[in-house]
Amino acid sequence: AKAPVRVLVTGAAGQIGYALVPMIARGIMLGPDQPIILHMLDIEQAAEALKGVKIELIDAAFPLLKGIVATTDAVEACKSVNIAVMVGGFPCKEGMTRKDVLPKNVPIYRAHASALGEHAAPNCRVLVVANPANTNAVIFKEFAPSIPEKNITCLTRLDHNRALSQIAVRLNVHINDVKNVIVWGNHSSTQYPDASHATITTTSGEKSAGELIADHHWLQNEFITTVQQRGDVILKVRKLSSALSAASAACDHIRDWLIGTPKRTWVSMGVFSDGSYGIQPGLFYSFPVTCQNGNWSIVQVFRYFYSLTWPIIMLSTMTGLKIDEFSRTKMDATAIELMEEKSLAYSFIDQQ
Ligand code: NAI
Repeated sequence: AKAPVRVLVTGAAGQIGYALVPMIARGIMLGPDQPIILHMLDIEQAAEALKGVKIELIDAAFPLLKGIVATTDAVEACKSVNIAVMVGGFPCKEGMTRKDVLPKNVPIYRAHASALGEHAAPNCRVLVVANPANTNAVIFKEFAPSIPEKNITCLTRLDHNRALSQIAVRLNVHINDVKNVIVWGNHSSTQYPDASHATITTTSGEKSAGELIADHHWLQNEFITTVQQRGDVILKVRKLSSALSAASAACDHIRDWLIGTPKRTWVSMGVFSDGSYGIQPGLFYSFPVTCQNGNWSIVQVFRYFYSLTWPIIMLSTMTGLKIDEFSRTKMDATAIELMEEKSLAYSFIDQQ
C-alpha cells in the first residue's frame, strides 16, 4: 500500500475548506488509491467550527483517510506536509477592495510561509487560493526562501474551468470535448480568458473554437466578460463567494500538477514568471502549463526555421504560442495590475 500523503488545508473551517476536505479525503485530489492524512489549520475564532469539521470527517468513515490533524497552531499544522492548500486569509468584507486586504495578509502569509518553510516535508507543493491569490503567492515566496519557486503556485483553474464551460455551453458539446483555453494573468477581473487556441473534439476531427464559433464578437467580448465576472455573479445569487467550484478546481490543479496533464492538453496555473510571453519575471502570472513528473512548464512550441544557405541547416527554437495584438494588450493589462499589487505588497513587507 502507498504511504499516506499529508495534505494541509489552511482556513479549513471556512466555506471552501468545508467543500474541499471531503473531496481530498475521497481521493478526488490524489486518486482513489492514495491514503491521506489531512492537516487542517484555522484561527482561534474558528476553533469550534474546525472541531465540527473534524467530527464530520470521522463520521464520514472515508476509507482513504488515515489521520486528521486539526489545529490553530501553524507549526503543528505544517509539520511534514507534502501538499499545502492555502485557503485561509483575511476575508474581503463588503466595501473592501483586494488592495485593502493586502496589508492584512502580509503577516498571515509571512507566518504560514515561515512555518511551512521550516517544517514541511522536502519538496512540499504549495497552492495559494486565498485572494489576492497571485500576490499572496509573492508574499509567500518572500517568506519561504527554502521552498523553490517552482513549488509555489496560485489558483486560476476555476477561471480556466469556467472558460471551458462557457465554450461547451455555447457549442452545446460535452465539457470533455473542449480543451486548451487559457486564462492569462491575475485571478481578478483583469484576467484574460483566451479561447484563440482552444480546440473542440468533433466527429469530424479536432476543430478550433474560432472555426466553430463564427461569432468572433462573442469570443472577444461576452465570453471574456462572463468568465471575468463569474465570481461576482455567484456572490450576488449565493450571498457567498464560490466554494464548491473553487474546491473542485483546487483538486484539479493539484491532481494535474502531480499526476500530469493529459496528452496535448494544457491547463492554466498561476506560476512564477520566467519572462515567457514577455511577462515580467518574478510575477505570479497565470500561464498555460503542461505538467509531467510533478513539475509544471509553461507551454512553448517548437518553431522551425530553415536556412537556405549551403549547407542547409534546420534550426529549431523554443517560442511561445502565437499571440496577436488583441491578446497582447489584454495580457499586458493584467500584468500591469499584478506589478502594482506586487509593489504594494512589498511596501507593506518593508514596513514589517
Ligand atoms: P471563508 O471566510 O469562508 O473561509 C476562510 C477561512 O480562513 C475562515 O475559516 C477563517 O477563519 C480562516 N482564516 C482566516 N485567517 C486565518 C489564518 N491566519 N490562518 C488560518 N486560517 C485563517 O472564505 P472562503 O469562501 O472559504 O474563501 C477563502 C479564500 O479563497 C478567500 O480569500 C477567497 O477570496 C478565495 N477564493 C479564491 C478563489 C480562486 O479561484 N483563487 C475562488 C474563490 C475564493
